[in-house]
Amino acid sequence: MLKIAHRGAKGYEPENTLAAFQKALDLNADGIELDVHLSSDGQIMVIHDETIDKMTNGKGFVNTLSLSELKSFLVADKYEIPTLKEVFDLVDKKCLINIELKSKETPQSVAALIKEYILDKNWSYEHFIVSSFDWSALQEVHNLNSKIPIGVLTETDLELALAFAETIKAKAIHPDFHLLNQENTTRIQAHGLLVFPWTINELEDIQKIKKYKVNGIITDFPDKI
Ligand code: G3P
Ligand code: CA
Repeated sequence: MLKIAHRGAKGYEPENTLAAFQKALDLNADGIELDVHLSSDGQIMVIHDETIDKMTNGKGFVNTLSLSELKSFLVADKYEIPTLKEVFDLVDKKCLINIELKSKETPQSVAALIKEYILDKNWSYEHFIVSSFDWSALQEVHNLNSKIPIGVLTETDLELALAFAETIKAKAIHPDFHLLNQENTTRIQAHGLLVFPWTINELEDIQKIKKYKVNGIITDFPDKI
């Protein structure tokens, strides 16, 4: 069962920073999860919200600011917003990277960057899984490159997610963990899909979900798993 560090090891370092991803590696996480938006000049930025207001000392929408403008604002007075490329280079094939697409602008750039690392840097498709609540974005990734592993995110409807996952030959379902029980976990797996629930931080919940034999757990505290 994979330990996947949510937004990096968010329980220990500011989310979606290189420090958080390094902490995840230090804790021997099997994977990291992160969120992406595009800058105004087309760079893939790793940040959860569509604005930088909450996470940095700046203000504005990510897609209206250039890379250099975004780099001038700091997270926790200390860390730059990383690009996806910077995270790939830090991780350097040491664990799985779950890229959550947070905007409709991202599928093409993300699919292209994955392809670049596979062709030029000897990475493999197994190093990546692309997820999103926006299933049209996942459809687009699949249309661009059907080899890219896909995780279908849902917080409401496992049945719909399963049906959609089958149409695009997804690798996994990523459900809100509250949706899971033993029966539906086993059923999803019987369809040949992996189950990666999020975001499980309390020990009691971790123990319950582990009993269902899910394939991985997305958590702020990978060392708790
Ligand atoms: O990928 C699972 C989880 O990260 C989805 O919610 O809001 O943390 O991006 P959020
Ligand atoms: Ca996320």
